[in-house]
Amino acid sequence: MTDLTGLTVGLVGAGNIAHVHVAAWKALGARVLVHSVDGADELAAQYGLEVANSLDELLAAVEFVDIVTPSATHHDVTLAAIKAGRDVICEKPLTLTAAASHELSTAAAAAGVKLFPAHVVRFFPAYKAAYDAVRAGRIGQVAVARFSRQASSPAGKGWYRDVARSGGVIMDLMVHDLDQARWLCGEVESVYAVQSPPSVDGISPVNVAAHVTLTHAGGAISHLRATWGATGTPFKTTFAIAGSSGQLQFSSADNTGYAEELQDGGSGGDLLIPSNTLGESPYLTQLREFALALRGGPEPRVDAADGAAAVYLAEAARASMETGRTIDMKSFDPAGVAR
Ligand SMILES: NC(=O)c1ccc[n+]([C@@H]2O[C@H](COP(=O)([O-])OP(=O)(O)OC[C@H]3O[C@@H](n4cnc5c(N)ncnc54)[C@H](O)[C@@H]3O)[C@@H](O)[C@H]2O)c1
Repeated sequence: MTDLTGLTVGLVGAGNIAHVHVAAWKALGARVLVHSVDGADELAAQYGLEVANSLDELLAAVEFVDIVTPSATHHDVTLAAIKAGRDVICEKPLTLTAAASHELSTAAAAAGVKLFPAHVVRFFPAYKAAYDAVRAGRIGQVAVARFSRQASSPAGKGWYRDVARSGGVIMDLMVHDLDQARWLCGEVESVYAVQSPPSVDGISPVNVAAHVTLTHAGGAISHLRATWGATGTPFKTTFAIAGSSGQLQFSSADNTGYAEELQDGGSGGDLLIPSNTLGESPYLTQLREFALALRGGPEPRVDAADGAAAVYLAEAARASMETGRTIDMKSFDPAGVAR
């Protein structure tokens, strides 16, 4: 049976999300080496990690890398790891353009290297429960789905509000729900997007909301809202998925969590499945699943093509905002990337 004994992980980056990843790697008993432009010594001291002085030194010493650098650097760091023959786990968004994601997937496949984008929402129990319910046909044919995600504006971090470096609120925040919409409702046929207020001179406003409507090949329609709110806006996510024979609901603000209301007469009085706020971190679930896959275990629930598809949808949303038109995904082909 696959196990994680003697795991040596190379972490690239030492900022916000690095802490969450390190906690998971430590829980899995991994030895962690870290390389970062800034913050590696502090992170290493806090968690008992080893510091690598260069990316090359890190790549030579580890089994695989976990990239938690700013989004605009994902492409180059991932490509360096692939060239060194190292498998890669990379934070979302995989890259900032469909063309760059496509290049990485192609390079990874050619090098026989695995590439897993960290779409952690697939590992949040309520979202996974909804996926399982939809796949099992529990709500029949999916008709209309709504997803929302709000967070305090990342005003303190320059690169997040710089659209060239983060992709803006849709590429950075909504990308989670673009992946969910595709996972739960199927492949996307058209994308329509608006953002209010618009970005000015490539800088995202502090208080901004984006709305995207997708039509899916199976006939479903989904609406996604992502908000970088005023400072102090609490983090909150919701979904509501309505099908021909029931609906699925979740709000992270409710401790009761995920709910199923089915028209099959068998649901009984208590329609709530308790959320597992006391369960393990979804980041730990995710990194364990990736590490086991890299050790020869089952393929994880998300792959490079999924990461590229989410970026492709976010890029289409940007094209819709720029043109004011609905984007037909059959003909949307940025930079000549064939799907
Ligand atoms: N899945 C999630 O829930 C989640 C949450 C937050 C951030 N993220 C993603 O994680 C990534 C990192 O976000 P963050 O908030 O931790 O960023 P951050 O700015 O806090 O930290 C980035 C770190 O990377 C280092 N760095 C920058 N360029 C580098 C390079 N070329 N090589 C090595 N190190 C480099 C910086 O010095 C810093 O330590 C982003 O892609 C972001 O979208 C995901």
